[in-house]
Amino acid sequence: MTSAATLPRAVTVRAPAKVNLELHVGPRRGDGFHALSTVYMAVGLYDEVAVATADDWQVTVSGPYADRVPTDDTNLALMAAKTLAAEVGVAGPVSLRIHKDIPVAGGLAGGSADAAAALVACDHLWAAGLAREELVELGAALGSDVPFAMSGGIAMGSGRGEQLAPVLARGTFYWVFAVSSTGLSTPAVYAECDRLRGKAPVPAPQTSAGMMTSLRSGDAEALGRALSNDLQSAAVSLQPALREVLDAGQEFGALGSIVSGSGPTVAFLTASAESALDLCVSLAASGVAGEVKRAKAPVHGAHVLPGPSRV
Ligand code: C5P
Repeated sequence: MTSAATLPRAVTVRAPAKVNLELHVGPRRGDGFHALSTVYMAVGLYDEVAVATADDWQVTVSGPYADRVPTDDTNLALMAAKTLAAEVGVAGPVSLRIHKDIPVAGGLAGGSADAAAALVACDHLWAAGLAREELVELGAALGSDVPFAMSGGIAMGSGRGEQLAPVLARGTFYWVFAVSSTGLSTPAVYAECDRLRGKAPVPAPQTSAGMMTSLRSGDAEALGRALSNDLQSAAVSLQPALREVLDAGQEFGALGSIVSGSGPTVAFLTASAESALDLCVSLAASGVAGEVKRAKAPVHGAHVLPGPSRV
């Protein structure tokens, strides 16, 4: 433990969004979750969470999606901070200031990024010194994508997505995201996937060899061809306009187009920073996609930002 005199008064942590390069959804398990085999890539769209000692627990949210984030006890960052407080035996109260740049309910794991950021930030603020594995275990209980928001990079996810194994990869990848003005609820998308599948037996999910080869060689074209998502047809079924967005990416030269996670954000892989910019311009001009964002990947997981709080 650090002495009280040297404890930081406020800590800011930045955590990234993710895209699932492939998402194979297996059978629904007894606990209601689906067995997954997925490959996550952390992308350079970030939320920042600043925590500071306070008289009461409180959450404030800023940024373009602020009005869509709850600030009550259902806020995932607040839940994360309280979970850690209970675990390490501090009374807590902290104020959490969240700056959101990751679209809400978009399939980019923004809520998980906030939870991961809050865990890392509070661990630092309280000088609790938990091992990464302990923080990851607490995070997994809060959401299937929280462990990956901590690790970042590229990883294979199994179980319900929370069990991670590193993936060998090289290169930088350039993504464009078409953000929908209405979100999709993750449980609703999984339920729609089950409905579309009907009663047919669902095989155990497996990672594809093509995906691993494309990542090992850093081959963006091969990666574009290998992108796949079992939740895509469910997301399109719930938001049929996504079909047009996916088609537009192909038409404008993306190497691959895919619904990110449970959607409705559509992720386009491009060949270079210039191609990404061109695609953004074409998508915006066509009017098919409302908001368009660009990001490089892979990037690091949740990490403390040096210097005074920025949010
Ligand atoms: O873990 P997370 O909070 O992201 O899960 C949200 C919901 O998504 C779950 O309650 C469940 O309905 C669905 N889900 C699932 N199988 C997974 C992950 C999530 O059915 N592997």
